Amino acid sequence: MTPDWQTRLREKIRDIPDFPKPGILFKDITPLVRDSATLRLALHHLIHPFVGAPITAVAGMEARGFIFGSLAAWELGVGFIPLRKPGKLPYDVQSVSYALEYGENTLEAHIDACGPGDRVLLVDDLLATGGTAKASCELVERLGAEVHALAFVIELDELGGRTQLAPYPVHSLLHF
Ligand code: PRP
Repeated sequence: MTPDWQTRLREKIRDIPDFPKPGILFKDITPLVRDSATLRLALHHLIHPFVGAPITAVAGMEARGFIFGSLAAWELGVGFIPLRKPGKLPYDVQSVSYALEYGENTLEAHIDACGPGDRVLLVDDLLATGGTAKASCELVERLGAEVHALAFVIELDELGGRTQLAPYPVHSLLHF
């Protein structure tokens, strides 16, 4: 049986057909984050496995990873690292590019965002193919830090992101 908290979160995720492209069913989390009760509920379950873990920072992927990532960092009592799309960060950056179905994407972090001795929790709203998350792990590791685990609000099981991310631990609140 689905726990009550998962049902409450699911009720606040809106399906938008054909966004941003025909054939894509977009999971819109804006109703969930607009409601303080479901935002708090999602955050509680997102960070629950990591309370007391030896994490030194949370990194979030642009853009929706910034919402959950910075709140998770706050709750876990550590700082936040924005992983950004290209050309957005003002200081020296480390970059990782990754393939999309059509074309390529790049994520960047400041070179002093983290380093040896850091254990980073990566947070995003959604795990689909895992391309973004895998590139994020590589970025953190290129900076000399370790990936502690990855946490997502939504996981799209059929797209196989979890397999892509093995052996990193993956925590997801809702499976679609
Ligand atoms: C979405 C989502 C993840 C990524 C997951 O971000 O927020 O970051 O896609 O997809 P993947 O597992 O196939 O890599 P998007 O690129 O739409 O960016 P946005 O948050 O700026 O809209």
